[in-house]
Formats: sequence, structure tokens, C-alpha cells
Amino acid sequence: MNETLCIEPYKRHALMCCGKSCGEQIPLLKSLKAKVAAAGLDKGADAVRVNRAGCLGVCKQEPIMVVHPEGVWYSDLDESKLDRIVEEHFKHGKPVKAWAFHGTN
Ligand code: FES
Repeated sequence: MNETLCIEPYKRHALMCCGKSCGEQIPLLKSLKAKVAAAGLDKGADAVRVNRAGCLGVCKQEPIMVVHPEGVWYSDLDESKLDRIVEEHFKHGKPVKAWAFHGTN
């Protein structure tokens, strides 16, 4: 088979841990995707690609999410924290240092 794979361009990649120790955060992952879309960041030059991940090797203070290309790691996520991360980090390029435990130095 000679099939060409294609992924739409994106600026950031958010990987949310949905591993067992993080409580299999599927509802929060779906919510993040909805927030990204509502902010108009699901396509275009500033798009954020959101994917579920298996264990990211931290397994404390879950839920855990890492955002590339900055390599910023967030913990203890909830709906309101995601709102702020979408607004400040994804929209304006300023990671929310208050909830980041790595990658903001
Ligand atoms: S299960 Fe989430 S970091 Fe390990």
C-alpha cells in the first residue's frame, strides 16, 4: 500500500496523561479539546493538537499534561486551570507558571 499520511499543521502539541494512575482523564481530555476548539485554536497557524497519552512517568499530582514545543509540564489540572492554560499559554504563548512543575525556566 502506498498511502500518504497527512496531519494538519499545528503550533503546539498538548499530551494529557490518561493512564490509570492519573485516573484515565478522558472527560478532561474531551473538555480540553472543546476549549481549544471554542478558542479557535483547533486549526490554523496557532493550532493546538491535543492527544491522549499513556503514562508519562510522573504519576503524582495528577492529572498531568505536557505541552510542546516548550516542554512545559502541568499538574493538578482541572477545568478552571485548563481555561487559563488555553487563554494564556495556547492563545498568548505565556505558560502558566503557577501550575507548571517543569519547563518554565
Ligand atoms: S499514569 Fe499519568 S503520569 Fe503515570
